[in-house]
Amino acid sequence: MGLFESKKKLLVGLDIGSSAVKVCELQAVGKGVNQRYRLQKLGMVPVPHDAIVDGDIMDSNAVASAIRQVLAEQKIKAKDVAVSVSGQQVMVKKVTFPLMSPAELAESVRWEAESFFPAGQGLDSYALDFAVLEERPGDGNMDVVLVACRKDKLESYAACVAQAGARPAMVDVDVFALQNAFEVNSAPGARDEVVALVNLGSTFTNMTMLVGNRSVFWRDITWGGHRFTDKLMEDWGVSREGAELLKRGIPAEGRSPDEVEPSLNAISDAFADELSRNIDFFRSSFKVDRLDRIFLSGGGAKVAGLTDVLGDKLRVSVDRLNPFQLLELDDRSVDPAAVREIGCAAAVVVGLALRHGGDR
Ligand SMILES: Nc1ncnc2c1ncn2[C@@H]1O[C@H](COP(=O)(O)OP(=O)(O)OP(=O)(O)O)[C@@H](O)[C@H]1O
Ligand SMILES: [Mg+2]
Repeated sequence: MGLFESKKKLLVGLDIGSSAVKVCELQAVGKGVNQRYRLQKLGMVPVPHDAIVDGDIMDSNAVASAIRQVLAEQKIKAKDVAVSVSGQQVMVKKVTFPLMSPAELAESVRWEAESFFPAGQGLDSYALDFAVLEERPGDGNMDVVLVACRKDKLESYAACVAQAGARPAMVDVDVFALQNAFEVNSAPGARDEVVALVNLGSTFTNMTMLVGNRSVFWRDITWGGHRFTDKLMEDWGVSREGAELLKRGIPAEGRSPDEVEPSLNAISDAFADELSRNIDFFRSSFKVDRLDRIFLSGGGAKVAGLTDVLGDKLRVSVDRLNPFQLLELDDRSVDPAAVREIGCAAAVVVGLALRHGGDR
């Protein structure tokens, strides 16, 4: 599940979100420490409401059709894509084991993973993968990241991609893709900060905490940008389409964005509380007493005033993550206006486009 790198060709990133599918193609330029990435293709096509519910594909024809459309619009010829999964059927956890051989580790991981699964479910319902993060001969231990995902979820995503005429060459996890998008846009070298990466999608919020250069905590929260939409529909009697426009600062159905701002702020406030609970959990579990910075991404990060509300309530610096910050742009094939428009909603897909064929 997307944990190992090989030197093969970069895959096309395909982020199948419940509000939109995004596609991204990168090209590696330069070598070694001078390696950079050039953005070759970027596109987004909306997914009909309720075609994906709680991360499950309910209407495979609609989703496959959105994928086919986004690949066609961007004239993407490569068939091999990297997709990702997220949500409650995906578990990611760091575990420390004593140093051991790869064969022993594989066995230990299977035992450890049993504690992951809901009662009555086990390895027959879940696909399991792992990667060694760090070996520490000094204290005789090694840190390993374990990933488990329900097999039926993997199968339905793969089937949908195949239905759209592409090949899912690897399945990644949203939080890993997010981390990769952050890393590729960060200055190289050691970091001395505790950073939260928070990707506010439509249904889920993917969250990972980095201590220095290391990610130590990954979590998907069932909390998404749809809550802003629902609140506007409820408070102002507008349609879903109207609410989506108002969220984007566009007047709709006789309502102005200024007028509905208090409703958006109320939900931003609730999001700050939710994040705060998760950050507190991280702090106490990992005995980390600080948080220096939050980078917010996902379409939900664009909600007016959200970064300010979070900054005020959590008393930490909050910035939007620009997934294109350090990328070159091929202006023959990508429109800079489209790149700005998609912006931070492309964090996961940029991370996926950094994956290579041959990755698992
Ligand atoms: N300009 C904008 N202003 C405010 N909200 C926006 C804007 N653009 C998108 N959104 C909101 O962002 C959310 C979609 O974000 P994103 O594309 O990251 O989600 P997704 O990947 O489709 O969902 P998920 O990963 O949860 O299945 C929606 O709730 C949408 O209304
Ligand atoms: Mg998403």
